[in-house]
Amino acid sequence: MADRNITWHGHQVGADDRARLLGQQGAVLWFTGLSGSGKSTLAMALEHRLLHAGRVAYVLDGDNVRHGLNADLGFSDEDRRENIRRVGEVARLLADAGLIVLAAFISPFREDRARVAERVGSGFFEIHVATALEVCEARDPKGLYQRARAGDIPSFTGISSPYEAPEAPALRVDTAARPLEAAVDDLMALLAKAGRFVGSPRGA
Ligand code: ADX
Repeated sequence: MADRNITWHGHQVGADDRARLLGQQGAVLWFTGLSGSGKSTLAMALEHRLLHAGRVAYVLDGDNVRHGLNADLGFSDEDRRENIRRVGEVARLLADAGLIVLAAFISPFREDRARVAERVGSGFFEIHVATALEVCEARDPKGLYQRARAGDIPSFTGISSPYEAPEAPALRVDTAARPLEAAVDDLMALLAKAGRFVGSPRGA
């Protein structure tokens, strides 16, 4: 990269200091799957469960982030790549601050997800929300599949734009087969097993 006259400033505190303060290690749970697969519902339910258990978590959601930070981006392959790069960097910063980040983005391209995984490192967990296309299309909560089938929305994931499923996710959830609270149990167990809870919950 060309020299842009910038330097890196090291922090005086590290991950261990933050973990001691918060009782948890920062992490990124990256929910990927089709529109309508249940990513946001699952992430929001897990966020609620974590906060009520005294853990600090925050959901980054595709639709929400596109209202602000990424309001300038559309749905071309290039814009989706930039969307994932930016939110991946935000997730990384929040996880570095000690939060359990729940990122819910279609993130259809394997390479883009792999880049985020590499940037985040050991605290990254890929969650494939593997609800079948037919189920997502039948749910059609925003009416977008119908509009995409009618040709009103170009490059719609699963219809006219590809979705590359994860090959080896940390967890695969089919929200048509697994009740919401059971899936949240699975995700809490994953975090516990991965050693992300290292102290007493806050407010305990
Ligand atoms: S991603 O592909 O770049 O990861 P992201 O998760 O941010 O997508 O946004 C997906 C949401 O945008 C969908 O849930 C849907 O509500 C909306 N959307 C609008 N146009 C499209 C499209 N062409 N393909 C997929 N989702 C779209």
